Amino acid sequence: MYKINENYLKLPGSYLFSTIGKKVRAYKEANPDKDVISLGIGDVTQPLAPAVINAMHKAVDEMGKKETFKGYAPDLGYEFLRKAIVLNDYKNRNAFVETDEIFISDGAKSDSGNIGDIFSKDNKIAVCDPVYPVYVDTNAMAGRTGDYLEDKQKWSNVIYMPCVKENNFAPEIPEETPDIIYLCFPNNPTGSTITKDELQKWVDYANENGAVIIYDAAYEAYISEDNIAHSIYECEGARTCAIELRSFSKNAGFTGTRLGFTVVPKDLKCEGVSLNSLWARRQGTKFNGAPYIIQRAGEAVYSEEGKRETREQVAYYMNNARVIREELKSAGYTVFGGVNAPYIWLKTPDNMTSWEFFDVMLNRANVVGTPGSGFGPSGEGYFRLTAFGEYENTIKAIERIKNI
Ligand code: MLT
Repeated sequence: MYKINENYLKLPGSYLFSTIGKKVRAYKEANPDKDVISLGIGDVTQPLAPAVINAMHKAVDEMGKKETFKGYAPDLGYEFLRKAIVLNDYKNRNAFVETDEIFISDGAKSDSGNIGDIFSKDNKIAVCDPVYPVYVDTNAMAGRTGDYLEDKQKWSNVIYMPCVKENNFAPEIPEETPDIIYLCFPNNPTGSTITKDELQKWVDYANENGAVIIYDAAYEAYISEDNIAHSIYECEGARTCAIELRSFSKNAGFTGTRLGFTVVPKDLKCEGVSLNSLWARRQGTKFNGAPYIIQRAGEAVYSEEGKRETREQVAYYMNNARVIREELKSAGYTVFGGVNAPYIWLKTPDNMTSWEFFDVMLNRANVVGTPGSGFGPSGEGYFRLTAFGEYENTIKAIERIKNI
């Protein structure tokens, strides 16, 4: 008789954003007259930039003509896109990355989950706490996290690096040495980040200890301060210890069209084995590439108009972030983030738990946010709001929150 992957049975509840979606749907069904505003999941609301849409239209027409039709995409993704990435995301930032180190994908969420395929089950992972749940859940599915300890809301075989107010939401080097370190800066969910010098310490630590860093830079477009790295490869030595995940979702609004990429440097080797080759083998076998039309759309993000238009979108969301931050602060809330990231991390008032505050927000303000404890035990007592809403809705939501 067949057997299932029992690791799935260890997972507590459903995926965080599915749980929230279910609760919100139930509330709306029971209260059809209520206008619920979502500042919950980090999903964009602004339409794709005109330069991106034009490129898509053109690519659609190409697909309809025999001479220009495209079938399967090349394994690593189209060279036109990988070249644009190398030039704009790396060369222009003095970071060395080559085109055959870039693997185009359907987004950073899948890559962050799939990357575990090339690592042994026996690795010990370290994660920030709170953390984007995909890193932990996918390691749990692979059997790498031990057992879930309900009372602690933690996995028995995971190193948690608390990111709390006291350490400016920056992880500290853990006592126990991990094999795989997940870092996400600017951070989801806390909206905080670390300086390039601090990131350099992690790179040095990983190289000294034979650890690999999975660096999620999905929110780099939101960096507004100078001393922060947009890519881990701006740090010396990162090519021998880091894999970087990037996304077109947040910088260019591709959440619905799906596009991202992963960088695996050829210098990254485990006892002589190239991780670039392993990832190429994994992707070649399990993935057939992002659609041509979407890769052309991605290329357009790097055109002059594309850069200008997507910069305007980022500025639009960051204006929301500013409004949320300033308004809630003046209303007496303790707020963090929102300066280099599209997330605002606020302390729940009156010692409410994150889920209690979620209910208050939904029932009394008709605003959806994300309970901090859903991201890990150190998120308890916090609440995340996203700046990805429409401006008018964001203003309305903040007014309602102030009147709770
Ligand atoms: C979030 O809300 O944390 C993000 O939208 C999740 C994601 O990008 O997958």
